[in-house]
Amino acid sequence: GLPQQVTIYEVGPRDGLQNESAVIPVEVKAEFIDRLADAGHKVIEATSFVHPKWVPQLADADELLRRLHRRTGVRYPVLVPNERGLDRALELGVDEIAIFASATETFAAKNLNRSLESQFDMFEPVVARALDNGIKVRAYVSMCFGDPWEGPTPIAQVVSVGERLLGLGCYQLSLGDTIGVGTPGHVTELIRAFRSPDRLAVHFHDTYGQALANTLAALHCGVTTIDASTGGIGGCPYAESATGNLATEDLVWMLRGLGIETGLDLSKLVATSTWLAELLGRPSPSRVVQALSKG
Ligand code: HMG
Ligand code: MG
Repeated sequence: GLPQQVTIYEVGPRDGLQNESAVIPVEVKAEFIDRLADAGHKVIEATSFVHPKWVPQLADADELLRRLHRRTGVRYPVLVPNERGLDRALELGVDEIAIFASATETFAAKNLNRSLESQFDMFEPVVARALDNGIKVRAYVSMCFGDPWEGPTPIAQVVSVGERLLGLGCYQLSLGDTIGVGTPGHVTELIRAFRSPDRLAVHFHDTYGQALANTLAALHCGVTTIDASTGGIGGCPYAESATGNLATEDLVWMLRGLGIETGLDLSKLVATSTWLAELLGRPSPSRVVQALSKG
């Protein structure tokens, strides 16, 4: 059966903006995040404490956190790859972080400058110190379905990386289809290969238009946390074939039709995406945004 309630983990300000070529002023980012909270989002991934040269679009992370109007009842996790990133996050009073691992050797090298094995040497002290400081840690694993260099990713390899991350003490594992090549049968097989679907989230990029179908498959397997980005913006600068995330509006539309509660105000989300699209200089790729903003 399907769950009665779903948590939408909003990644627009981080995954969405990390890949945009337009330079977005920090105050616009803060307003974007505040609009998302106003539309009812309870978890908003705000930015990344990565090397500013690796992701220049998010080089203003410290400044953004200082400007952010943090609302009670809303969580604002940030991406942190290493101890330097954790130091920056701690200084700004962040209470939730996400580490991001790779399921493949090539992407570990391209995205983290590490090998598949040595990425864990980077993450272990981050998770240990974060937990000591009372910080919640989520883990991503990227390229769960395939990567542009190695082809399809073996299920056992994804499970091995994922279980190790959960074993470090991460409260949740988000399965990333970074380049959007997954299909529903593959999603079902991967989720069933894990011990506990309640600790999983899914993170679908919509490159091949499969994100919504994949989400439905994940819901049927018992996953109740879905990553999405308002307006469907997103991508990964270290995987050229990556396009936008599953659009939050598309997800809300489907869930509403299924009678599943999200607490989100769809018209406020669409208004936010239309506002942002103008600033980014390109229309939102979301079909629901396009349909609801006509006329
Ligand atoms: P590195 O070059 O190996 O870093 O990069 P290092 O540890 O050797 O340090 C080199 C220098 O960088 C040092 O400075 C550090 O202090 C500095 P120096 O001593 O030479 O003056 N440095 C930092 N400065 C600020 N903040 C930091 C930081 N770390 C080191 N955190 C590193 C390793 C991991 C830092 C680099 O590879 C990196 O930043 N990678 C991030 C790439 C990224 O953000 N990709 C996009 C996010 S992942 C994604 O989008 C996928 C996801 O959405 C899920 C999915 O779709 O599948 C999550
Ligand atoms: Mg992503």
